[in-house]
Amino acid sequence: MDKRELLENLKKEIETDKRLPLYGEVNLIFGEGDSEAEVMFIGEAPGFHEDKLGRPFVGQAGKLLDKLLTEIKWPRESVYITNIVKRRPPENRDPLPKEIKAYGPYLKKQIRIINPKIIALLGRFAMNYFLPTTKISLDHGKAYTLRGKIIYPLYHPAAALRSTAVLKELEADFKRLPKLLKWR
Ligand code: URA
Repeated sequence: MDKRELLENLKKEIETDKRLPLYGEVNLIFGEGDSEAEVMFIGEAPGFHEDKLGRPFVGQAGKLLDKLLTEIKWPRESVYITNIVKRRPPENRDPLPKEIKAYGPYLKKQIRIINPKIIALLGRFAMNYFLPTTKISLDHGKAYTLRGKIIYPLYHPAAALRSTAVLKELEADFKRLPKLLKWR
């Protein structure tokens, strides 16, 4: 089976898992992009627009992510984009620890299938899932290695939309991505 088929099967597995929080309440936003991608971006959870369109990062934060990708000349379709929690929490609240815990193993399966070189984590929820003791304000833009992969925490684009200082940091961290990929 190729990676696309494996991802399709995983999607069906998540879709039919009735034990998952938010099951039956909102749509499943599985993720999208190149199944052979070398870089995977992981956010926290879908929001209103993502739930409506069935795709990750398509609202304002997604537009900024697209712009940052364009600036480093990486087509959006060449990477893989997903979230830890794959359904929208009500009123866009932060994902709960029990939601992260429930969806986490599926994210790990998704990573195992895609097998990227770099896992870029967007925001503190994604970051703390992989690196529990880190702090986004101190540790964004630092490259870690975990089981042979580069783990690269970044500010969440939504945070960058609220603060020019954060936006500058995010842009600077983003610009290091192509070099990081070559380094591997
Ligand atoms: N914020 C996220 O963390 N993920 C999305 O898909 C959209 C906004």
